[in-house]
Amino acid sequence: MAKVYCFTDVKAICLTRMKAAVYKKYGPPEVVKLVEVEKPSPGSDEVLIRVFATTVNRTDCGFRSAEYFISRFFSGLFKPKYGILGNEFAGIIEAVGKDVKLFKAGDRVFGYNDTKFGAHAEFMTIAESDAISTIPDDVTFEQAAPISEGAHYALCNIRAAKVTGEHDVLIYGATGAIGSAAVQLVKNLDAKVTAVCNTQNVEVVRSLGADQVIDYMTQDFTKTDQKFDFIFDAVGKSSFAQCKPLLKKHGIYISTELEKNSENIFLALLTPLFNGRKVMFPLPTIKKEDVNFLKYLVESGKYKPLVDRSYHLDNIVEAYKYVETRQKVGNVVITLT
Ligand SMILES: NC(=O)c1ccc[n+]([C@@H]2O[C@H](COP(=O)([O-])OP(=O)(O)OC[C@H]3O[C@@H](n4cnc5c(N)ncnc54)[C@H](OP(=O)(O)O)[C@@H]3O)[C@@H](O)[C@H]2O)c1
Repeated sequence: MAKVYCFTDVKAICLTRMKAAVYKKYGPPEVVKLVEVEKPSPGSDEVLIRVFATTVNRTDCGFRSAEYFISRFFSGLFKPKYGILGNEFAGIIEAVGKDVKLFKAGDRVFGYNDTKFGAHAEFMTIAESDAISTIPDDVTFEQAAPISEGAHYALCNIRAAKVTGEHDVLIYGATGAIGSAAVQLVKNLDAKVTAVCNTQNVEVVRSLGADQVIDYMTQDFTKTDQKFDFIFDAVGKSSFAQCKPLLKKHGIYISTELEKNSENIFLALLTPLFNGRKVMFPLPTIKKEDVNFLKYLVESGKYKPLVDRSYHLDNIVEAYKYVETRQKVGNVVITLT
């Protein structure tokens, strides 16, 4: 017989349950199911956030599919350790743990967590010392959610290559989440940016600040006469061999992918031994200082994450399918209002 709840029981259940996109096994987008789960409660050093916007990005896709087996060493060898994905978030702090000093209930916050994830849900928790910061006043949740993922990968690689205002930089795949952030972050350093994308996105990439745009549909970028201090392949479609002739004598090549036989790892170990062009493969990290820095860039109008389209959490499987077409232009936002 179905249990009959009285009004106060229902209210109590609503306060302790939440809607979340849960995956219990690795696989295609359909492994993600919308279900009701227990609402998390914050530990003593954590904040509880009511999530208003999040994203589906390539990091979520990588961990959900476990396409690269190595990701299972972080997310669980046989099945996912944390059942809710979503690394970028924007929302309002609902409650704080007893030792929390930096935030209070009611603060509008955004940030990134690729250790425990959890943002594809109505509520999530995160330690106050992690990559979380307040949202600038005139920025909406939908604009704040996509600030960190692509930008922190871009930032990490740009810093590794020690880009300065004197440098000529080529960004291949300038329309991805990483590439579109990279164009803006490199321009902030006053370096000269040559961006590569397809015909339909030439104007978008120009609007991000690129000095020169190569349309890969009509021009082979490897045939350019220009030489670069840094080539950043933000979509992992090129190779060092292909790009080496385009690099200046001490030029640096970085790709977001390992490439055939994980060659970029070996080249990153080998090429620095010679005094010439080299490959780097920096491991991405993100700290509170980084989200604070990105917040400063957004606040001062120096960086604006590019948004392709939005889906409601109820349609998150469709969002995953779209992101996996590998044709998104910037970021795909998920709303939870
Ligand atoms: N495994 C992980 O955990 C993980 C996490 C994050 C990122 N990544 C890697 O980082 C890379 C970038 O991620 P992202 O989120 O920035 O990518 P993304 O947003 O999915 O990139 C999509 C963009 O790439 C462009 N593109 C696709 N094929 C291209 C080609 N052959 N030449 C030039 N542009 C091309 C598309 O533009 P067009 O319309 O011009 O083709 C599209 O706008 C990916 O390789 C991804 O696998 C991996």
